[in-house]
Amino acid sequence: MEASNLHFLAILLLLVTNMSAITSAASSSSFYSSNDNNSNFIKTSCSTTTYPKLCNQYLSSYASVVRSNPWKLCNCALSVSLQAARNASSLATALSKQRGLTKAEAGIVADCVENLGDSIDELKQSIKAMARIGGPSSSTAKDKAEFQMANVKTWVSATITDENTCTDGSTGRKVSAGVKSQIRSSIVDVARITSNALSLINSLKY
Ligand SMILES: *[C@@H]1O[C@H](CO)[C@@H](O)[C@H](O)[C@H]1NC(C)=O
Repeated sequence: MEASNLHFLAILLLLVTNMSAITSAASSSSFYSSNDNNSNFIKTSCSTTTYPKLCNQYLSSYASVVRSNPWKLCNCALSVSLQAARNASSLATALSKQRGLTKAEAGIVADCVENLGDSIDELKQSIKAMARIGGPSSSTAKDKAEFQMANVKTWVSATITDENTCTDGSTGRKVSAGVKSQIRSSIVDVARITSNALSLINSLKY
């Protein structure tokens, strides 16, 4: 190979390596900025809910899944609510097996386990219905979507009532402060997380 050819090859090689460095830098910077946009979408959406901090705390990790799709955000919010209800349910179940509960306490904890079971069913139903509707651009007829969304809102509201009944049940009855606070700490967040999901659902356009 002639020296000039070698020279040309060297320059070409240099160009190619630089090009790939440049493109990878560009793509990684756009990766970060779109990630920022996704997080901002969640933050902004959460700011309209009753418990924005809690909303952002549990939903920010879904930024790359949600992007800026409000339907996906609602699906994630419902999944997190379901997860929270399941967590609370296992805590309440564990509490119901605790020794030394009075009859009143055992009754309240049992009600709580039952109410959380209802919450879990209602949330599962809501998640299924939302998946069927799919989003604003789906082929589902508009009135059908409206009917389904009304059902979802009813179920999620019922969930919040069930969860609140769980904590309300312990007030005014003969329950020790310890049992009360154990119920409260496991339930309060669930009701708040679910209420956030409902306000995100209420702001959907379809
Ligand atoms: C449910 O419990 C798991 C395991 O303890 C935890 O990682 C997760 O954050 C909890 N989720 C909610 C929504 O409380």
